[in-house]
Amino acid sequence: MIALTGVRPTGELHLGNYFGALKQLITLQRDYNIYFFVADLHALTTYVFQENLSEVSETLVASIIALGLDPTKNLIWTQSSVPEVCELMYLLSCLTGFQYLNKGHAFKSAKDTYKNPSVGLFLYPVLMAADIILYQSDVVPVGKDQQQHMEICRDLSEKLNKLIGSWIKVPQALILDEVAVVPGTDGRKMSKSYGNTIPIFADKDRILKIFKRISTDSTKLGRPIDLNNSVLGSYLKLTLGLESYRTLANACLEGKYGWGQVKEIAFEAFMKYFETARTKFLDLMRDRETIKEVISSGNEKARAIGSDFMRKFKKAIGLLSYV
Ligand code: ADP
Ligand code: TRP
Repeated sequence: MIALTGVRPTGELHLGNYFGALKQLITLQRDYNIYFFVADLHALTTYVFQENLSEVSETLVASIIALGLDPTKNLIWTQSSVPEVCELMYLLSCLTGFQYLNKGHAFKSAKDTYKNPSVGLFLYPVLMAADIILYQSDVVPVGKDQQQHMEICRDLSEKLNKLIGSWIKVPQALILDEVAVVPGTDGRKMSKSYGNTIPIFADKDRILKIFKRISTDSTKLGRPIDLNNSVLGSYLKLTLGLESYRTLANACLEGKYGWGQVKEIAFEAFMKYFETARTKFLDLMRDRETIKEVISSGNEKARAIGSDFMRKFKKAIGLLSYV
């Protein structure tokens, strides 16, 4: 069984990426073959020709390994190194109605942000479906913002099965309710594009500053504060564990802590939770050659899987597929 996910190399990995999708992926490595890729083609839909794209891509690979994905047992590659994914995207786009895509909520909101959104952005969900179908994935751990994209992918898989006989897998999205949307420091969804993230591998002082800037209500010291429904409470629930969180939340209700102290506790809990990963990340970043080797051998394997699938698929839809 295959569990696959991709992350766009558009910035630093944050708490929302980890708890929303990557933690689930890493946990599944006990029972699944894990396929993790750097979605660099998807990054181009909004960050055209970002100068340091390859550097951000390598950093992303170092990050996922540091967080616990074993590169010797799982597959890690860059999306753009397998051109078959674009070929499949084109074939899938011929099966996708314009009106159907035009109704997608991600594209609808892109139309509010960009005056003239690109055709690449319009095709975003079709490329994502190609990513998943090309590697015949069973499970796809993602955050809630990807739910509609997953529905589009499932629709396309089912459509293909009706056309060419039922051998295309219909993937299952893995979206965990309690972390479906991790809030950002301003209370909106945590996202690189809102500038409200807590980057996992940033230096300590920067992270401390971010925690200190989180806005809270103006309850005076000694008065009860309610951690539930607060941004800091969400972070503490994730990094402290439920039992310690409940003890702290009760103490806060008794007025034993003020928000300033809670911020410090949340910062310490964050640093402790990611301590091992952060040390490993620094080691990996000092050894770029190893990262490059992981990517290069992953690219080769992913390409072989992609071209096998395309040969079979092209034959099934009646295209000549001589090698
Ligand atoms: P961003 O919105 O910061 O650019 P990405 O689009 O690169 O993040 O997301 C990578 C993965 O992390 C996706 O599966 C996405 O659903 C998940 N994810 C991102 N932000 C959050 C969040 N705030 N809560 C839960 N999951 C998230
Ligand atoms: N769309 C995802 C995001 O914005 C990234 C992505 C691209 C992806 N292709 C994928 C996720 C395939 C899961 C499976 O975060």
